[in-house]
Amino acid sequence: MPAISATAPGKVILFGEHAVVYGQPAIAVPVRDVAAKAIVTAAIGAPQGRIQVEAPDIGVSTNLDALDPTAPLAAAVRAALQGVSAPPAFKVRITSTIPVAGGLGSGAAVSVAILRAVSAFIGKPLSDEKVNEFAFAVEKLHHGTPSGIDNTVITFAKPIFYIQGEAIETLRVAAPFDLLIADTGVSTPTRLTVGDVRTAWEREPQRFEALFAEIGQIARLARNAIETGKTASLGPLMDENHALLQRLNVSSPELDGLVAAARQAGALGAKLSGGGRGGNMIALVEPSMHEAIATALRQAAAKSVIATTVLGSRGAEAQGSKNGN
Ligand code: PMV
Repeated sequence: MPAISATAPGKVILFGEHAVVYGQPAIAVPVRDVAAKAIVTAAIGAPQGRIQVEAPDIGVSTNLDALDPTAPLAAAVRAALQGVSAPPAFKVRITSTIPVAGGLGSGAAVSVAILRAVSAFIGKPLSDEKVNEFAFAVEKLHHGTPSGIDNTVITFAKPIFYIQGEAIETLRVAAPFDLLIADTGVSTPTRLTVGDVRTAWEREPQRFEALFAEIGQIARLARNAIETGKTASLGPLMDENHALLQRLNVSSPELDGLVAAARQAGALGAKLSGGGRGGNMIALVEPSMHEAIATALRQAAAKSVIATTVLGSRGAEAQGSKNGN
């Protein structure tokens, strides 16, 4: 059997993180400048069913059976093998250039790459809908109450307007736009900030629901701006979204510092992206300003800066499948 490989991109959330967990819309886009990759090769001579899992980046090299079945790598491999009684012996090797725990979707991308490569290797390639469903199940093992946005944008690898439980909507990007993604170097698990927001919401439901609704409204306005090519108006919307995330208490001095540095250096807008209290922030930039703003971000202690262009798919399509519930 030939080796089979599959890759999956990273992602950033442009608008609506946290509020999306409470039913508000959010916008996320794939980031192809970073990716997770899974390569599956036959283990010639190994006993049937012997499955070796290698993830050199995190020091894993072991038999599938030796891994906790709820560990994300193991759960993804097992999901791809569901219903297969006698799998062949194989080795799956996972590598990734997506920073871990930085809000760029590293966990979901690893799951998607494994699901695609393993299922193709055993001759039962999964549909995108199934990949998305299984990747969401793996996310749930580790993130408590994920909205499903990460696995969805990464599986379909297109800009999406996402509302939990509703049909997946691909965004039509009328005019490409450029982002810088800067890493604070602080890694805070998403489940922590999601848990803190939940506690705060339970204490003061009305106040927090009003904040979520404001964020949702920003995501709707942003969708309109993206679909009509009014890209510059995304900047102020990012700034407003960041201010609301501060009020949800998920920003941090490091994130606020990078956001301020980007704005001072001429970004059209900037905000934290993802779970917050660390991880990455994003800045909307004109191409001519890339270098100056990237330099300012590095001077403000960004650990890395990724430049990416958000491109559209050809049309807005409802893909007809249901996402997280
Ligand atoms: O940290 P990330 O990029 O995985 O973002 C999580 C986004 C949240 O809205 C905070 C949580 C979720 O499940 O949608």
